[in-house]
Amino acid sequence: MIKIMTVFGTRPEAIKMAPLVKELEKEKMIKSIVCVTAQHREMLDQVLDLFDINPDYDLDIMQNKQTITGITTKVLEGIEDVIIKEKPDMILVHGDTTTTFAGSLAAFYQKVPVGHVEAGLRSGDKYSPYPEEMNRSLAGRIASIHFAPTISNKENLLKENINEKSIFITGNTVIDALISTIDKNYKFQEDVLNRMDFENKKIILLTSHRRENLGQPMINIFNAVKRIVEENENVEVVFPVHLNPKVRELVNDILKDVNRVHLIEPLDYKPFANLISKCHLIMTDSGGIQEEAPSLGKPVIVLRTETERPEAVEAGTVKVVGVEEKYIYDQVNLLINNEEEYNKMASAINPYGNGKACERIVEEILEYFEIKA
Ligand code: UD1
Ligand code: UDP
Repeated sequence: MIKIMTVFGTRPEAIKMAPLVKELEKEKMIKSIVCVTAQHREMLDQVLDLFDINPDYDLDIMQNKQTITGITTKVLEGIEDVIIKEKPDMILVHGDTTTTFAGSLAAFYQKVPVGHVEAGLRSGDKYSPYPEEMNRSLAGRIASIHFAPTISNKENLLKENINEKSIFITGNTVIDALISTIDKNYKFQEDVLNRMDFENKKIILLTSHRRENLGQPMINIFNAVKRIVEENENVEVVFPVHLNPKVRELVNDILKDVNRVHLIEPLDYKPFANLISKCHLIMTDSGGIQEEAPSLGKPVIVLRTETERPEAVEAGTVKVVGVEEKYIYDQVNLLINNEEEYNKMASAINPYGNGKACERIVEEILEYFEIKA
């Protein structure tokens, strides 16, 4: 029997690792243990509750307005203690957060092999997204086995001279999570969402939290949203605001009392995913939402200057518009008022997998340890 320790700490890692934890638990040759760093607290706990995961270890590191250095050092020290105690055969990390990088480094220092889930995404700019591009590159350098969602992710790793035999194309585990969550007859518990007229109004779902957008870019984004709503009476905006106080200050300054803009608390994953499937279009700087929305046929306006997810852009469902107010305003206005443009972007595509990524990952882990499934 092998012991596999899954490490994660933020909301998106939890959503994308939860179905994998479930899959690991099913395999009789694997003893699965879960260590959360709690780089996020409430937003992590929402996901743990939904998927009914009780972590074996909880480092509980989150602090208000935490710094990247603070997160890194706490995760590094905390995970090291757990590794020394548990002696896992492999550690699984996900994606590109500071938990991912510091967790990988802690494993490396203890000479424990790392499996990197959602490997090979690259923007090509080390400062954007910051610090995620460097986090995922460094985790990739450390990892012994790479689970790449798409062919182009695999090609990125090959360009960095990663051994081809250690790379497996699996699809993205977010699609596994999404499939188990979407329900055509879903009823929201939140009054504000239940009251919304998804048939007759154009409901825009907005999220923004990226570190490199804090400051002027977010001011531009929120000013563009304000103009769009004020000039289009049939538009309403729902914005589940990230708990980062730096985001909240900017949001409140610009969007607080604007008519038809609903600022709400972060939603649990189930209502959020079902909100994606019901809304008209999405404006976001999130990574994960760029993967979920295309499979539900929802146009995504990406509030960033780059993306590491070119597949959905090539398919036409995702458009990267940058962070200038005028350009964001023009592009969203076009989609709202031009049906032909909207329809071009609103077809469902699925470049990120078929919901079987976790099965594939577990098979490759068994293969790595030469265990027959
Ligand atoms: C982090 C990740 C980012 C990921 C994002 C997903 C890093 C450096 N950043 O960014 O890659 O896209 O998560 O959302 O790894 N807070 C709470 N409660 C929570 C969560 C956050 O109060 O449940 C507040 C805290 O004050 C915290 C702040 O938000 O200090 C920022 O959290 P942090 O994890 O540092 O950055 P994110 O922007 O969330
Ligand atoms: N999400 C959620 N509730 C919200 C906003 C987002 O459950 O209020 C989910 C979303 O469906 C996606 C993930 O959180 O799966 C994305 O997280 P985030 O945007 O924080 O991080 P990123 O993907 O940019 O790293």
